Amino acid sequence: MMKKKTTASATSNNNNNNRRRRSWRCLAIGILVTFFILTNCFMLSRIQDSSSSSSSSVNKALKLRFFKSSSSNSSSSTLSLPDELTKIDSSSSKLKQKPHKTPYVRLLHKAAHALAQFKSTSTEPKDLWLEPYHAVASLWQPCANQRVWKPSEGNNGYIMVTANGGINQQRVAVCNIVAVARLLNATLVIPTFMFSSVWQDVSQFADIYQQDYFIDYLKPDIRIVKELPKELQSLDLEAIGSVVTDVDIAKEAKPSFYLKNILPLLIKNRVIHFVGFGNRLASDPIPYHLQRLRCRCNFHALQFTPKIQSTAVLLIQRMRQNASHSGILDENLVGPFAKSKGKIKKDFRYLALHLRFEIDMVAHSLCDFGGGEEEKKELQAYREIHFPGLVEINNTTKIPSPDRLKAEGLCPLMPEETVLMLAGLGFKRDTQIFLAGAQIYGGKTRLNALTKLFPNLVTKEDLLSPSEIEPFLNFSSQLAALDFITCIASDVFAMTDSGSQLSSLVSGYRVYYGGGKMPTIRPNKRRLADIFMKNDTIEWKVFETRIRKAVRQNKRVFSRPVGRSVYRYPRCSECMCNIQEATLPIRHG
Ligand SMILES: *[C@@H]1O[C@H](CO)[C@@H](O)[C@H](O)[C@H]1NC(C)=O
Ligand SMILES: *[C@@H]1O[C@H](CO)[C@@H](O)[C@H](O)[C@H]1NC(C)=O
Ligand SMILES: *[C@@H]1O[C@H](CO)[C@@H](O)[C@H](O)[C@H]1NC(C)=O
Ligand SMILES: *[C@@H]1O[C@H](CO)[C@@H](O)[C@H](O)[C@H]1NC(C)=O
Ligand SMILES: *[C@@H]1O[C@H](CO)[C@@H](O)[C@H](O)[C@H]1NC(C)=O
Ligand SMILES: *[C@@H]1O[C@H](CO)[C@@H](O)[C@H](O)[C@H]1NC(C)=O
Repeated sequence: MMKKKTTASATSNNNNNNRRRRSWRCLAIGILVTFFILTNCFMLSRIQDSSSSSSSSVNKALKLRFFKSSSSNSSSSTLSLPDELTKIDSSSSKLKQKPHKTPYVRLLHKAAHALAQFKSTSTEPKDLWLEPYHAVASLWQPCANQRVWKPSEGNNGYIMVTANGGINQQRVAVCNIVAVARLLNATLVIPTFMFSSVWQDVSQFADIYQQDYFIDYLKPDIRIVKELPKELQSLDLEAIGSVVTDVDIAKEAKPSFYLKNILPLLIKNRVIHFVGFGNRLASDPIPYHLQRLRCRCNFHALQFTPKIQSTAVLLIQRMRQNASHSGILDENLVGPFAKSKGKIKKDFRYLALHLRFEIDMVAHSLCDFGGGEEEKKELQAYREIHFPGLVEINNTTKIPSPDRLKAEGLCPLMPEETVLMLAGLGFKRDTQIFLAGAQIYGGKTRLNALTKLFPNLVTKEDLLSPSEIEPFLNFSSQLAALDFITCIASDVFAMTDSGSQLSSLVSGYRVYYGGGKMPTIRPNKRRLADIFMKNDTIEWKVFETRIRKAVRQNKRVFSRPVGRSVYRYPRCSECMCNIQEATLPIRHG
C-alpha cells in the first residue's frame, strides 16, 4: 500500500499520469478497505470465538471482558449473537426518546407524495409480488428428501454437541453435526444449546423442535439418541480429551479434517463433545450425499413444536387478514395448523421486512447514521464495551471513513433508506408489512419514517394478545422462531443485510419450497449507496427506475456458487432437482 502511494506521488503532471494516479488511489483505497474488512473479520471471529470456547488461553482477556460486559448489561448483544435478538424488555429505553434529525428529508417527502397520489385503483408494478425470473426458478424443485444409502449404524461412538449462538446459528450447527455424524458413522446425541448470557434463553432442542420427529425422520440416515448410554455418562470427557471446541477446529473445516483428527479420537474414547461448533463444516468440498443430508436436515427434519406452530399460524393469518387459505409453503412451517391450500388473493398479501438495525450491528459497522455527535459518542461507548477488538484495530490501522464504507456497501441500511427503497419499488401505502426483530436502534422514533409512509406496519407484539405472547416472553429463541416463520411465509420478503443469519435462512427456505413464486428483495447496498448519494438532486421517477433496476438484478436465478451455504443457496443438484436436466445451470452475473 505504501509503495503504491509513493509510486503515485512520483508521477508527473500530464493527463495520462493523472488518470493513472487516480486509479492508483482507487486501488490503494480498495486495498485499504479490503485489509480493513479482513482484519475486522479476524477480530470479529476472535470476539465470537471468545464467547464460545471454554479453553482458549489466547483469548482469555477478550473473553473475560466479553462476559463481564454482557452480563452486566442485559440489553447488550454482540455480532456473534445477531438477528435473533428480540428482547421485549426496555432496558435500552434511554435510546428511545432521543430526538433525531431525519436524514433524506427531501426524498422522504417525495416518497410520501408519490404514495399519497398512488390510489388503490392504480396498479403496482407487474413484478412486485412475483419472482421476475419465475420460469427458470420454477425448474428447481425440492428433492433433498430422496435417499440412496443404507442407514448408518453409528457404531464408531457417540457425538454430542452444545451449539452456541442464536436460534438460526444453532440450526446451522445442528444440520452440520448431522452430516458429521454420518461421515464418522457416529451416533448423535440430541443437540443441546448453550445458554447465552445475552439471550437469557434456557430453551433446549425439544422446546423448539419436534424431537421425536427429528429422530425418526433421520433414521434412514443416522442413529440419534436422547442421551448418552449410562456407562458413558460417568466419563470425564474433559480429562480424556474428548471435548472439542472451536479453537481446535478451523472454520469451514473439511471432511478430511474430521476423518483424520476426530475419528481416531472417537474410536478411542467412544464419545466426542463439540462445544460451540459455529461454522465448523465447510460448504465445499463435501461428498454429494452428505451435502444432501445437510439439506434434508434443514428443510425436512426440523419441525417447530406445536406451541410455536400454533402461535405462528396466528401471526400468518392475521397478516393475511384472516384469509381462508394458506400460502404455498405454510404447511412445511406450521404442519397441521395450516389451512387448506389455495390461491392467496391480492388483498391478503403481506410483505415481511427484516430490518437489521440493532445497536450491535450499527455500532460494529463504524458507519455514520446521521445522529451527529451524540450518536458517535454512544456508539463509541458501546464499541469500547462490546467490541474491544474493533477499538484495538482502530489503534493500529487506519479505518476507512464512514463515507467510504458506505460507498463500498458495508453499512446496514437505515430505516429511512429501507422505506425509500420499498416506496421506490412501488409498494402501496396500505401494504401490510410485518417487521421482524424490532429492537431498532433509536427506538420507535427511528421507525417513524417507516410507519408514516406505511401505516400498516406491525410486529409480532402488535399482532398477538398479551396472553398469546406471554408463554414466549422469557424465550428469545422461541420468539425468534415466530419471526422466522412469519418471514418465510410472507408473499414478499425484504432483507436489509444479506449477511444476517435469519435473512439468509429465510431466503433459502423460500427458494427451496417456493416454486419460484416467493420473491426476496435483497438489495445491493453498494448500488443503493450510489443512488442515495444523489439524494439532494435526484428526481423521484429516476430514483424509482434505478432502485427497481438494482433490486431486480439481485433476483436473478443462479445455482449455488462454490463454497456458499446450501441453506442459503439450495439451488444445487444435492438439494434441489432441476427438472430440465439437460440445461446448464444458470450462472451468476
Ligand atoms: C461407515 O460405514 C460404511 C458402511 O458400513 C463404511 O463404508 C465406511 O467406511 C464407514 N466409515 C467410517 C468413517 O467408519
Ligand atoms: C381476524 O380474526 C381475529 C380473531 O378472530 C379478529 O380479532 C381480527 O379482527 C380479524 N382480522 C381481520 C382483519 O379481519
Ligand atoms: C478511532 O480513533 C479515533 C481517534 O484516534 C477516534 O476519533 C474514533 O472515534 C475511533 N473509532 C473507533 C471505532 O474506535
Ligand atoms: C487504544 O489506544 C488508547 C490510547 O490511544 C488506549 O487507551 C487503549 O487502551 C487502546 N485500546 C486497545 C484495545 O488497544
Ligand atoms: C420470566 O422470568 C422471570 C425471572 O426469571 C420471572 O419472574 C417471570 O415470571 C417469567 N415470566 C414468564 C412469563 O414466564
Ligand atoms: C445526500 O446527498 C449529498 C450530496 O448531494 C451527500 O453529500 C450526502 O451524503 C447524502 N446523504 C446521505 C445520507 O447519503
